[in-house]
Amino acid sequence: MQPFLKLIVLVHALLSLAVALIAVVGLLFFLSVSGVQLPSLSKGEQEATALEVELSVVKALVDPASLWHAPDFALIDQEPNSEDLHYGKELVVNTAEYLGPKGKVLAMSNGMNCQNCHLKAGTVPFGNNYGAVAATYPKFRARSGTEEDIQKRINDCFERSLNGKALERNSKEMKAMVAYINWVGKDVPKGEIPAGSGIYEVPLLDRAADPAKGKIVYENQCASCHQAGGKGMAKADGSGYVYPPLWGEASYNHGAGLYRITRFAGYVKANMPLGATFESPILSDEDAWDVAAYVNSMERPKKDLSKDWPDISKKPMDHPFGPFSDEFTEEQHKFGPFKPIKAAKSSSK
Ligand code: HEC
Ligand code: HEC
Repeated sequence: MQPFLKLIVLVHALLSLAVALIAVVGLLFFLSVSGVQLPSLSKGEQEATALEVELSVVKALVDPASLWHAPDFALIDQEPNSEDLHYGKELVVNTAEYLGPKGKVLAMSNGMNCQNCHLKAGTVPFGNNYGAVAATYPKFRARSGTEEDIQKRINDCFERSLNGKALERNSKEMKAMVAYINWVGKDVPKGEIPAGSGIYEVPLLDRAADPAKGKIVYENQCASCHQAGGKGMAKADGSGYVYPPLWGEASYNHGAGLYRITRFAGYVKANMPLGATFESPILSDEDAWDVAAYVNSMERPKKDLSKDWPDISKKPMDHPFGPFSDEFTEEQHKFGPFKPIKAAKSSSK
C-alpha cells in the first residue's frame, strides 16, 4: 500500500474510535443529567428511607384514617399463645424489673424499659412503634451488613439502647418478646411499612443544630422530669425509672439509634415533653434539633463500633463517626447542616 493510503486508513480508524468514544460519554452524561437510573448491581439497603417516612407523615396528617393502629390489647386473651404474649408485653413495659441491674430473671441491662422509647408497649403512631416489624423482618441492615431477624434486632436495642448484654436467643424471655412484637404487627401485609410506624422525620434546617440553644430548651422543657443533670428520676425501690435518664452512665450508649440526631429530634418532636403527639407537637422543629444536639453532646457510655457499617457508603448522613465516603467532617455529620450532605449523596448515586 502507498504510504499516503496507509496514513488515510490510520486517520480514518482513529477518527471512528474518537466518534465512538464521544457517543458513549455523551450517552452516559445524558443519562446522568436526565435522572435515568441505570440498574444497580446489588439490592443493598432495605431500611425505610427517609422519603418513605416523610410521605407517611404527610399521608397521616391529610388522612388520619390511613394511620396504622395496633390491635386491641384485650384481644390477646383470645390468642392460643396468650401467655407468651402477656409476658412479652410485660417485658417491653417493665424491662428493668426482669432484666435491669436488679432484674429478677437476669441482670443484663441498664435499668431502662423498652417502653421508654417504644411508647405504650410499641403501639403509638410515630412513637417508635413496632407496627412494621412483623411485616419487614428478617431484612438486610447496613449497620451490621447482615440479614437480621427480630431476635437480632431486639438484641441490638439491648446492647445499645439498654447498654447491656444480648439475651439468649432461645430463652423464654426472647420468645415472648418476639411473639408480642409479631402480634403487634400481625395485621400489616408482608413487606409493607404502614403510615405512622417508626420515627417522625423533622424537616432539615438550613443551619447546624446548636447545642447552646438546645441547653435552654432542655432547661425550660425537659429538666422538670429528666432532671437538671439528665440522670432522670429512679423509682424509690431502684427497680427502674419514673423519668428515664437522657445521658450519663445509665443512659443509652453512643451506638444507639437515639444517638443519631435525626432519630432523637424525630422522637422528641412527636412525643416530648410527655403529652406531645405528632399531630399536636409542643416543640418547634428548631427546638427539636437543638435539644437533640445538646443531649447528644453530653457524656454517655461507649461501645465498640468497629464492626458497624462494613460498607461506609451506607452510613446514614447523621452517623457521627468516620471514616465517611464523602468529604464532610464528623462535626457536620453529627450536627448538620444536612442538606449539603444529602445533596452530595444523591448526586453521587
Ligand atoms: C433509648 C431508646 C430505646 C430503647 C430503650 C429501646 N429501643 Fe428499640 N429502637 C430505638 C430506636 C431509636 C430504634 C430505631 C428506630 C428507627 O430508626 O426508625 C429502635 C428500633 C427497634 C426495633 C426495630 C423497629 C423497626 O421497625 O425496624 C425493634 C424490634 C426494637 N427497637 C425493639 C426494642 C426492644 C425489645 C427494646 C427493649 C429490650 C428496645 N427496643 C429498647 C430506641 C430504643
Ligand atoms: C412531664 C415529664 C416529661 C417531660 C417534661 C419530658 N419528658 Fe421525656 N420522658 C418522660 C417519660 C415518663 C418518658 C418515658 C415514657 C414511658 O416510659 O412511657 C420519657 C422518655 C424520653 C426519652 C426516651 C427515653 C430516654 O430516656 O432516652 C427521651 C429521648 C426524652 N424523653 C426526651 C425528652 C426531651 C428532650 C424533653 C424536653 C423537650 C422531654 N423528654 C420532656 C417524661 C418527660
